[in-house]
Amino acid sequence: MLNYEKIKNDFPLLNKQAQKKPIVYFDSACMSLKPKQVIEAMNEYYFYFPACSGRSSHRLGELVTKKIKEARQIVANFINADEQEVIFTRNTTEAVNLLANSLDLKNEDLVLTTDKEHNSNLIPWQMLIKKKGIRHEIVKSKNDGTFDFEKYKELVKTSRLVSMVHTSNLDGTTIPAKEIIKTAHENGVLVFLDAAQSAPHIKIDVKDLDVDFLAFSGHKMLGPTGTGVFYGKYNLLEKFEPFMVGGDTVEYSTYTDHKMLKAPEKFEAGLQDYAGIIGLGEAVNYLEAIGFDNIREQELELNRYITEEISKFPKIKIIGPTNPALRSGIISFYIDDMDMHQVALMLDEMSSVMIRSGQHCVHSWFNDKKIKNSARVSLYFYNTMEEAEEFISGLNKIIKIL
Ligand code: ALA
Repeated sequence: MLNYEKIKNDFPLLNKQAQKKPIVYFDSACMSLKPKQVIEAMNEYYFYFPACSGRSSHRLGELVTKKIKEARQIVANFINADEQEVIFTRNTTEAVNLLANSLDLKNEDLVLTTDKEHNSNLIPWQMLIKKKGIRHEIVKSKNDGTFDFEKYKELVKTSRLVSMVHTSNLDGTTIPAKEIIKTAHENGVLVFLDAAQSAPHIKIDVKDLDVDFLAFSGHKMLGPTGTGVFYGKYNLLEKFEPFMVGGDTVEYSTYTDHKMLKAPEKFEAGLQDYAGIIGLGEAVNYLEAIGFDNIREQELELNRYITEEISKFPKIKIIGPTNPALRSGIISFYIDDMDMHQVALMLDEMSSVMIRSGQHCVHSWFNDKKIKNSARVSLYFYNTMEEAEEFISGLNKIIKIL
């Protein structure tokens, strides 16, 4: 059971109003709110030990080194990885770029994605088509937006890498990752999962999934902006050439040569966001205390209600499966020929309800379907039924005006 008194105390924004109405924040797929504990952990770094990790041997340097090691351990436990398999990045996007630039993809190698990739898992591969002549194929979703395993089984046979979004930020669907990975491995193919939208909502166990690479962002799971994680199996990371090099990536250098450190250090070039990494560790602690069962239960209850109510508007179409249980905490909807930015702006103006509108960095999908854009509600455990009701009441008023 979630303790809303405590949650309201931990997230100060939930007690704020705009235009005399409580703020309803339904944009957590873009950016989650942050609890006080995360901010306080970061402030602690800046106030009391704002030093370099892994470099200075004075007491403040030692303390920050210890805190970063602890944060890495917390994140590793969170996804059931080993410590040296956790590389801190700025976000998921940086992690995909790391993968694309470090894996020895060659001419004609095939990268397989879904048709709902965020630009961060599309553009890096399009760049490699230009630079190295790799190939890119797409497993198109079924009509209801779910994964087409039959099509996948055919395409994976000739692939080199499967690089897929685990839970879609467009419609909230989650691909059957375990089966996808098993089939890929039977064909000798590596798998990367973009877990930016799944890690905040469901338990990720990299060993159980047997996934080769995975990435997620701190800012969508209660953590600070500019923090992310790239996971890779250690034996694979060992073979990788890092794509960013410099400070703290080498054991030594001469004027003509250097000796690279091992993973994860060789991938973390330059001074890192120590406050952010410490905050990310605290965010993971907070999430674990909330519990994924509670998160799922709350999101599903609200998604069920919103889906049912939205389905009463004849003109509104929900993207993805009709069953809310298949759409995580996401309700992405549109009205033919209408600019959904207008709906989002009016909801904010009239009801203080904040949702995202646009193409959600999945332009390719909207362009293919010739749909202008969508309005997207994205929920998290701190949202309540009263907020969902406020949203539906606001939407009712807007639809009458438009
Ligand atoms: N990927 C983020 C979103 O879906 C930015 O809003």
